[in-house]
Formats: sequence, structure tokens, C-alpha cells
Amino acid sequence: MHLAHLRLRDFRNYPRLDLDISPGFHLLIGDNAQGKTNILEAVYLLATLRSFRGVGGAQIIRHDQKGYFVGARIVGPDEHEIKMYWSARERKLSLDGRPVRKLSDYFGLLRAVVFCTEDLQLVKGAASRRRRFLDLLLAQTQPTYLPLLQRYTRALRSRNALLKQRPPDPAALEGFTRELVLTGNQLTQYRGELLPRFSPLARLAYRRIAAEEEELRLEYQSSIKSDFAVELAQSRTREQSFRSTVVGPHRDELRLVLEERSAAQFASEGQKRSIAIALKMAQAEYLTGIHGTAPVLLIDDIMGELDAKRRGGLIPLLRRAHRSRSQVFMTVTKEDWPEELGRDLVRWRIKSGTVCRLTP
Ligand SMILES: Nc1ncnc2c1ncn2[C@@H]1O[C@H](COP(=O)(O)OP(=O)(O)O)[C@@H](O)[C@H]1O
Ligand SMILES: [Mg+2]
Repeated sequence: MHLAHLRLRDFRNYPRLDLDISPGFHLLIGDNAQGKTNILEAVYLLATLRSFRGVGGAQIIRHDQKGYFVGARIVGPDEHEIKMYWSARERKLSLDGRPVRKLSDYFGLLRAVVFCTEDLQLVKGAASRRRRFLDLLLAQTQPTYLPLLQRYTRALRSRNALLKQRPPDPAALEGFTRELVLTGNQLTQYRGELLPRFSPLARLAYRRIAAEEEELRLEYQSSIKSDFAVELAQSRTREQSFRSTVVGPHRDELRLVLEERSAAQFASEGQKRSIAIALKMAQAEYLTGIHGTAPVLLIDDIMGELDAKRRGGLIPLLRRAHRSRSQVFMTVTKEDWPEELGRDLVRWRIKSGTVCRLTP
């Protein structure tokens, strides 16, 4: 699967961009603040409907414009045209000329994994980052996961809003509680089943890139001990004082354990960085295993910061994406490690919101 055409209108510093893109390895070369990351952001946005910079649509619209547009032609076993328009007033998402009604129809057309400096927050940041990571991975592999997550989130929001009323309407609370338990139990099950498959991939990836032979393990810590419905009922007093739902999958944690210790607390900066990369490598491996084709890899800036060992650990993944006719997009300010990647790279020069192909 690859992105055959990318079209941007008023997207960040691109007034307009139309690119025909082949499968393979693409190097986006340019000085700082020219628009390299913006291209990766557009591809990731098409794949996940989120910016990996954690911002909303308003920041993406080119200054002084009303809305942005991103479109692409995706070529895999089938060919698809996707289009997305966003403004404060209007959001449109279409697949092959028809509005997308169910996100599960859309997710999975284009799968992408991003490697960026923000990934460090997967290790250092709040538990919500790690939950989001698991949620994305499940949404990319299980068509039923996203609708379920949306139902859970809606029930949770309504229930929390209700808990802020004094006193909450018991019948309404009962209804949202039932929906929460029903969907929450399924979410917990999906996440729990993912871990034994995903954790070994993360461990292997870590081995490949880390300097020392340490063991990385991932552990799913559910906030529910055995019965969600019962524990929810038991949490009523705490709920009343916090005025929100205090147990459930929205409070779960993905624990990263290095040599039997919490990585967030005890790992060094270098180890944390390696763990973040290992999680992303494992995400790419997992997607490849499930779907039989490699996801599009978006690699932002991180290569320059990596030592030879870590780079070396990543290269087989890049080569495989290349060989399976998927794509790798990598941003660099200087082209300083071509020989490790092989010669059949496509080079693009990025300069103040323009893109120019350097190699035929
Ligand atoms: N909404 C926006 N409208 C116009 N320009 C923007 C917007 N957001 C960011 N930019 C510009 O985009 C450039 C940064 O692009 P980016 O892709 O992050 O650069 P880099 O090449 O360093 O990766 C900066 O010049 C910034 O001012
Ligand atoms: Mg950048």
C-alpha cells in the first residue's frame, strides 16, 4: 500500500501542493522551518485523522485562510481517493467521492507509523499517551474497535456530565452505567489480548536498538480488578466527591518495564529514547504481521540524533517497507547517511512551502 498522490491546499505553509509519489524510500531534505514535518503531518492526518503534533485543525489552516484541504490517492490491492476538508464551520471527509459515515470504513485504508521527537512522551508522559497508542494500534487492526471506543467515550462523557448534577438522575445514571460497563468490558478485553502479542515485538525491537542487552516488557494494568460493574458500584462515594467516573478503561495504564523496573521512573534518558523507538518499531511490525503489508513509515528528524547502533537497528525495518512496495518518508536537514540506506532513494528538496524532486 502506498500514497500515489498527495494534494494540499492551505495546509500549514503550503498554499498548494500536488505531488505524484512512487513506492519506496523518500528523503525530504531542507533547512529548518521549510515544511518538511508539515508533509509528514499531512500524511499522518490522512491515516489517523489526528495530527501527531497533538493540535487541532485550527492550527493547521494556513495563516489568514479559512480552511485546509488534504487529499490523496492510495494504491494497494485496490485504489482509493480520500479527501478531507476542515474549517471552523465545516468538516468533510470523503472516500471515493462519497461522504464517510462510519469511521471504521475509513480507518485502515492508509496505515502509518510516525517516528518523531514527541515519541519520548510515550515513556515520560501521562498514561493517556500510552492508552492512545494502544487505541490507535487497535483501531488500525480491528475494525470493530474504534466504534466501540467511541461508544465508551460518549457514555463516559454523558455519565461524567450527569455526576456533576446534584443529585444525578438515577435512571439516566443507570442507563449510562450499563453502556459504560458493556463497552468498557470489551475494550479491556481487546487491550488485554493485544499485550501478549505486542510485548514480545517491543522486547525484540528494544534488543535491536538498545546499547545494552536489557529486557523490555509491557504490562497492561487495568483499573478494574475483576468485575467492572461491581467496582463501579463500589466507587460511588469516590465518584460523588470527584464528580466523575473513577474506574474503567479510561484509567488504565500500559506499564513499561525495563529490567523489572518502571521505565518512567528508573530508565535513563537514552534508555527512554530507545524504548520510545522500540514501541514504534513494534507498532510497524505488528501492523505488517496482521495486514501482510508494511505501513507507511514517517520518520521525522530522529535519525540525526541516533547513534550508529540505533540507526543500524532501524534499518531492516526501513528496508522491509521499501521492499514490500510500501513507503518511507524521512526528513533530514543534511543528507548524511546515504550509504546505509542503499542508492535507490528519491530525494526531494523542501524550501519555504515548495517541494522539488531532485532525483529522476
Ligand atoms: N498554520 C500555518 N500557516 C502558515 N505557516 C505555518 C503554519 N504552521 C506552521 N507554519 C510554518 O511552517 C514552517 C514549519 O514547517 P515544518 O514542516 O515544521 O518545518 P521543518 O522543515 O523544519 O520540518 C514554519 O515556517 C512555520 O512558520
Ligand atoms: Mg521538522
